[in-house]
Amino acid sequence: MNSNNNNKTKPKKLAVSNILSMKNKEKISVITSYDYWTAKICDNAGIDILLVGDSGGMVMLGYDSTVPVNMKEMLIFTKAVAVGSQRSLIVSDMPFGSYQIDVKHAVNNAIRFIKSGSDAVKLEGGIEMIDKIKAIIDVGIPVMGHIGLKPQTTKLWEGYKVQGNTALSGAKLLREARELEKVGVFAIVLEMVTLEVAELISKTLKIPTIGIGSGPHCDGQVLVLHDMLNLYDKIKPRFVKSYLNLSETILNTLQRYISDVKTSKFPEDQHSYRMQYKEHEQLFKSRKSMRKKLSSPLRKNE
Ligand code: KIV
Repeated sequence: MNSNNNNKTKPKKLAVSNILSMKNKEKISVITSYDYWTAKICDNAGIDILLVGDSGGMVMLGYDSTVPVNMKEMLIFTKAVAVGSQRSLIVSDMPFGSYQIDVKHAVNNAIRFIKSGSDAVKLEGGIEMIDKIKAIIDVGIPVMGHIGLKPQTTKLWEGYKVQGNTALSGAKLLREARELEKVGVFAIVLEMVTLEVAELISKTLKIPTIGIGSGPHCDGQVLVLHDMLNLYDKIKPRFVKSYLNLSETILNTLQRYISDVKTSKFPEDQHSYRMQYKEHEQLFKSRKSMRKKLSSPLRKNE
C-alpha cells in the first residue's frame, strides 16, 4: 500500500511557524469556531486560524458576557473543533479565572487545552500577565496575546470602548505589544484599537497582529462567526461586517418544514422505507386470520 495516498487528499496542517512566515506576505484569516460542524466548514474554506474564543460563552451558551464561561465548557468546544478540522491552526481562549491566579494554575490549564486538541492558547492581558505568558511558553505551548479591549476585564472598568485614542494610551499599547513580543508570543490580537495605533504596532513588531475592530493595517483579521453570519443579535459592534443573514434563512427554512409537516407534504415516498410486496401480503393475511380468530366464540379449554 502506498502510504502517500492519504497525504494527497489530507491538507497539510498549519503550524505556528507557517503563521509567522505570513507576516508582510499574506494576510491571516481567523474566525471563531466552537463545534465540530462549523470547524469542518471553516477548515474546508481555508481559514488559517480557528479561534475557540471565550465568546462561545455568549454565542453558544447565552451568557451575557465572556466572564462566566469556564474551563470545562471551553475544553468541550476545543475537542469538537479539533475533531472537525484538519488544516487550520487551533487556538483556544483561556477563560476568565483560568490563568490569573498564579503561574502554576495558568500552565496547568494551558496544558489541558493542548491535551484536548488545541495547538496554542490565547490569553488577555499585557505587562500584568507577562509571568503567566512566559511560564506557558517555557513549557513549550505557543501563546497568542490579546491587548486593547479585553472583554474579560475592560467591561468591569469602563465598558466596551475604543482603545488607543490618545497619544498616551497609544504609546502604552505599543509598549505592551513590544513586551509581549519580547516574551515570545507568536501573534497578538488587537481589539478595538484605533487604526493609527494598530498600524504603528503592526509595523513595529516582527510577529503578526490580528485585528478585530482595529482597521486594515493589521497582519490578519478575526471575527466572531456568529456575528458575521447574523446568528447572534444581543450585541452588534460597528466593526462587524455582515456577510449573510443566516438566522433569517434558518427561520424561513423551519417555517417551510412546519408547514410541510402540518399539511402532510413531508415525508414523501422518497423519504420512506417500503416492505417487500410478499412480506406485506403475508402481514395482511396474518392480520386477517388473527381478527377471525379473535371474533370466533371461545372453544372449550381456551
Ligand atoms: O473570544 C473571542 O471571540 C475573541 C475575539 C474577539 C478575538 O477573543
